[in-house]
Amino acid sequence: ERSYKVTLLPGDGIGPEILSVAVDVMRAVAEREGIKFEFTEKLVGGAAVDGAGVPLPDDTLATCRASDAVLLASIGGYKWDSNPPHLKPETGLLGLRAGLGVFANLRPVTVLPQLADASPLKREVAEGVDIMVVRELIGGIYFGEPRGFGVNESGHRYAYNNMVYSTPEIDRIARVAFETARKRQGRLCSVDKANVLQVSQLWRERVTAIGKEEYPDVELSHMYVDNAAMQLVRNPKQFDTIVTGNLFGDILSDISAQLSGSIGMLPSSSMSESGPGLFEPIHGSAPDIAGQDKANPLAQVLSAAMLLKYGLGETKAAELIEAAVSAALDKGYRTGDLMSSGKTLVGCKKMGEILLETLETTSPVT
Ligand code: NAD
Ligand code: IPM
Ligand code: MN
Repeated sequence: ERSYKVTLLPGDGIGPEILSVAVDVMRAVAEREGIKFEFTEKLVGGAAVDGAGVPLPDDTLATCRASDAVLLASIGGYKWDSNPPHLKPETGLLGLRAGLGVFANLRPVTVLPQLADASPLKREVAEGVDIMVVRELIGGIYFGEPRGFGVNESGHRYAYNNMVYSTPEIDRIARVAFETARKRQGRLCSVDKANVLQVSQLWRERVTAIGKEEYPDVELSHMYVDNAAMQLVRNPKQFDTIVTGNLFGDILSDISAQLSGSIGMLPSSSMSESGPGLFEPIHGSAPDIAGQDKANPLAQVLSAAMLLKYGLGETKAAELIEAAVSAALDKGYRTGDLMSSGKTLVGCKKMGEILLETLETTSPVT
C-alpha cells in the first residue's frame, strides 16, 4: 500500500470550507486507488496569528518539511490587514513558500468546455484556452532587500521595495519553464519589462542564453508585461507556456482566471529542487463570502489533483478527481461565481457531495 504524509493548512476565510471538500475527495480516491493518506492539520496565516502569536509557527514549517506534500487553502482577512509586517497572514504565506524553497509555481489556465460561456470574454476567445503560467515564487520584488519605510530630508515619508533577481534564480526557473514547454506545445513566452527595468534585461539575457544552449527545440519569444496583459484578453490562444517573475506572474494569473470563468477554478503547484511541493488555489481567502457556504471549492479540489500528480506521482488518482470535476459541471451544477441561467446553483458543501457521488461512478478522462 502506498502511504503519504500530507500537511493540511486551512488558513483563513473560505479556506477551511474549501479544504474540507478537497480532503473528502482525496479520501474517496484514496480508498478507490488503495492509497493511504496520513493528514496533519496545522495553523498558518491569520489563524496562526490568533492561535500561536505568529503567522507561520515553527511547528507548522517543520511539519510541512517532514511531509510528502502540503495542501494549503488560503490566508488573509480584514482583521489582520493593518497588522505590522511580521504579524500579517501574507508574511506567513511568503515564509512558508521560502521555507520550503518552492521557487517554481505552475498555474495552469484551462478553459473547461462546460465553462466556455462563463467567461466574460466571448466564447470564441475563451474556448479551448490551455496555458501554463510558470511564476517564479520566492524571489523578485516580494523578497528583495532592502525594503521598508523611511523619512526623507524634506520630512516626507517614503517606502521602497527592490526587484532583484540573480542569475541562478533566473536560470533555474527558466529551466523549469523550458522543460514544461517541451512537454506541451513547445512554445515558451517570457514576460518581462526589459524596456525599463535592469532586472528584466538580465532576465531576458539569461532566458535567451539557456534557450539557445539547452533548449533549441523550444520556440522562445519575449513580451513586455503590459502587452502580455492585453494579449491574454485579446487572443489568449496565442500562448502555450509563459514564464515570468513573482509580481508579474501574480497579476497575469489573476487576469487569466477570467478566461476560465472564475478565479475559483484555478489551482497551482509549487515545487522546490527537492522536498515536498506546496499546492494551493491561486485565489485568496475571499473574506466577502467566507462562512456563507458560497465558495467554489473546485480550485482547491484541482490543487489536490495537482498534489497527487506532481507531488506524489499518483497520476491515475489525479485524473479521477479531474473527471469528477468535469462530470459535476456536465450535470449543470454551479457555485455562485459560475452561475448562469439553466444551471443548478449549489453551495460549497453541496458541490463536495456531488463530487463524491460522481467519483463513485466515473472513470478517468485522459
Ligand atoms: P480573493 O481572491 O480572496 O477574492 C477576490 C474576489 O474573488 C472576491 O470577490 C472573492 O469572493 C472571489 N473569490 C475568490 N475565491 C473564490 C472562490 N473559491 N469561490 C468564489 N469566489 C471567490 O482576493 P482579495 O479579495 O484581493 O484578497 C482577500 C484576502 O486574501 C487578502 O487578505 C489577500 O492577501 C489574501 N490572498 C491570499 C491568497 C493565498 O492565500 N494564496 C491569494 C490571494 C489573496
Ligand atoms: C497569490 C497571492 C499571494 C501572492 C499573496 C496573498 C501574498 O496573491 O498566491 O497569488 O501575491 O503571491
Ligand atoms: Mn495572487
